[in-house]
Amino acid sequence: MASLWVLCFVSFGLQVLCSGTPLVLWHGMGDSCCNPLSMGSIKKMVEEKIPGIYVLSLEIGKNIAEDMENSFFLNVNKQVAQVCEQLAKDPKLQQGYNAMGFSQGGQFLRAVAQKCPSPPMFNLISIGGQHQGVYGLPHCPSVISTICDWIRKILNTAAYTKEAQEHLVQAEYWHDPLNEEEYRNNSIFLADLNQERYVNESYKKNLMSLKKFVMVKFLKDTMVMPPESEWFGFYKPGQAKDIVTLQESSVYTEDRLGLKEMDKAGQLVFLACDGDHLQFTEEWFTSNILPYLQ
Ligand SMILES: *[C@@H]1O[C@H](CO)[C@@H](O)[C@H](O)[C@H]1NC(C)=O
Ligand SMILES: *[C@@H]1O[C@H](CO)[C@@H](O)[C@H](O)[C@H]1NC(C)=O
Repeated sequence: MASLWVLCFVSFGLQVLCSGTPLVLWHGMGDSCCNPLSMGSIKKMVEEKIPGIYVLSLEIGKNIAEDMENSFFLNVNKQVAQVCEQLAKDPKLQQGYNAMGFSQGGQFLRAVAQKCPSPPMFNLISIGGQHQGVYGLPHCPSVISTICDWIRKILNTAAYTKEAQEHLVQAEYWHDPLNEEEYRNNSIFLADLNQERYVNESYKKNLMSLKKFVMVKFLKDTMVMPPESEWFGFYKPGQAKDIVTLQESSVYTEDRLGLKEMDKAGQLVFLACDGDHLQFTEEWFTSNILPYLQ
């Protein structure tokens, strides 16, 4: 230990190695960069476990209130473009970074990986992210519950209208298995990201250059419908009961995103956590996630 400590201090070049790869966090719906009970405590925990690490918890907007509001109402494609710009300008990230997204932050960081290869993302860790979207919004952590009722109503009646797609984040990853074609044609975020309309080779190439794509699914998740979306599975088209796993789905069999090739090469990691949405212990985090942050 002592000699490693000395090495870290004597050699500037090695200091980066010694203090770990930088980490970028993206919070979930209704949350913010810096809530001491959520991202704040995750940031602190990582900083304690990997001394010297640079952790950037993304704030979307000018302050915490805007950050929370934007998680419902700022077009995701705009959010991703803003984040790409921020990461490209951050001097501490230029050698590359790991990324960890919570809930919808998981699929948003995948968009960053697919669209913005520079600086390079090494490992992408999705904690309860919904890679095939959601069909249902059973809980909604907003301070004002009437907002949730309103959002739910829009999702169920008008998710694929231009207005909802432009302005409602959850509509942009709303995946209605009873109307797959409408989803495919109109989803401005998720259908594009999952190459439903056409294959953008650079999305595929960029995703495949990740070292690991780690997907955490919560086994008792009551928030995400269906929870299989956290492992890139979803309802079989035409109904909302039977599930197709990632490996059975066309995005994999046709390899539109490179996921099949990544799977064969051991780049996909499927982790299960025995709790409700985003509920995990420090012990679980330390043994399952920490190895991907080094
Ligand atoms: C493919 O994705 C890249 C990266 O986001 C983008 O610059 C390019 O315009 C896309 N190509 C097409 C044909 O949409
Ligand atoms: C989806 O787009 C295709 C091609 O533009 C069109 O033929 C089809 O009618 C559209 N379907 C729906 C449900 O919007």
